Amino acid sequence: MSTNLDAIAAMDFPHHERKSRWPARLDLIQSASGLSLGLFMWGHMVFVSSILLGSDAMWTVTKFFEGYFFFGKSHPWIVSVVVAMIFTLFIVHAFLALRKFPINYREYRNFRGHMKVMQHEDTSLWFWQVFTGFALFFLGSVHLYIMLTHPDGIGPYESADRVWTDYMWPLYILLLLAVEFHGGIGLYRLAVKWGWFSGSDPNAARKQLKRVKWAITVVFLVLGFTTLGAYIKIGIDHAPNYGERYVPTWQQKAPQEQSR
Ligand code: HEM
Repeated sequence: MSTNLDAIAAMDFPHHERKSRWPARLDLIQSASGLSLGLFMWGHMVFVSSILLGSDAMWTVTKFFEGYFFFGKSHPWIVSVVVAMIFTLFIVHAFLALRKFPINYREYRNFRGHMKVMQHEDTSLWFWQVFTGFALFFLGSVHLYIMLTHPDGIGPYESADRVWTDYMWPLYILLLLAVEFHGGIGLYRLAVKWGWFSGSDPNAARKQLKRVKWAITVVFLVLGFTTLGAYIKIGIDHAPNYGERYVPTWQQKAPQEQSR
């Protein structure tokens, strides 16, 4: 990949200074960090939605990430390390995205004006990506900070209590909408930008990509909201016992055993 960049940078531009390689490098880092975050979010959705298979399934996924099945004991700091890596990627990606934001209100108004006149769908998609990206700065940071500092507070009851009794659900509704639109548009734009799946007819490929993008967004939103609904329901039922940790069914003592 660097050979292309090197070739462009080494070109002889008659009336200009030798071009810097940095804008192209930063673009590449932004694409790579966005792709990694997008793929991470697919995994995240699968892990978090394990609650739909039952509390024991989600408990097992949680304990897996705490190293319980490797070390025979939970080490929640492992989760903190993973969160710290994702958080760093998130900050790098957001910092690089700053370059793409309209600089001031006038520039923003001009852009909106052009967007309305042109009615070009990809331009509108770009606007929504910037808008949802801006929202993610705040919404994503709150969630990641909590995960970083309370890695031991993840589990069927622990998560459900946070979602319902600790009032995280309104934030999660907004975060889910923002991340699914942002990620869907982002992955679509990456595919167009780097010419993936473009085939012999780029226009037809772009239309097809757009259909796939919408299908993915709808599937993830439906799965995400169903998952959120499941945590809310468990949270409401568990509210009287707020703070109690989940014990998997096979470790729960039968009532007669408990009274012995
Ligand atoms: C390694 C980093 C992350 C971990 C360990 C993590 C963990 C979790 C967990 C355990 C939940 C269930 C609810 C709860 O316990 O509060 C959750 C929900 C959620 N997370 Fe994350 N998360 C991470 C990163 C992210 C990122 C980067 C985003 C988006 C920017 C995100 C968006 C969401 C959303 C929207 C929900 C709730 C909606 C749903 O149920 O699908 N998470 N996360």
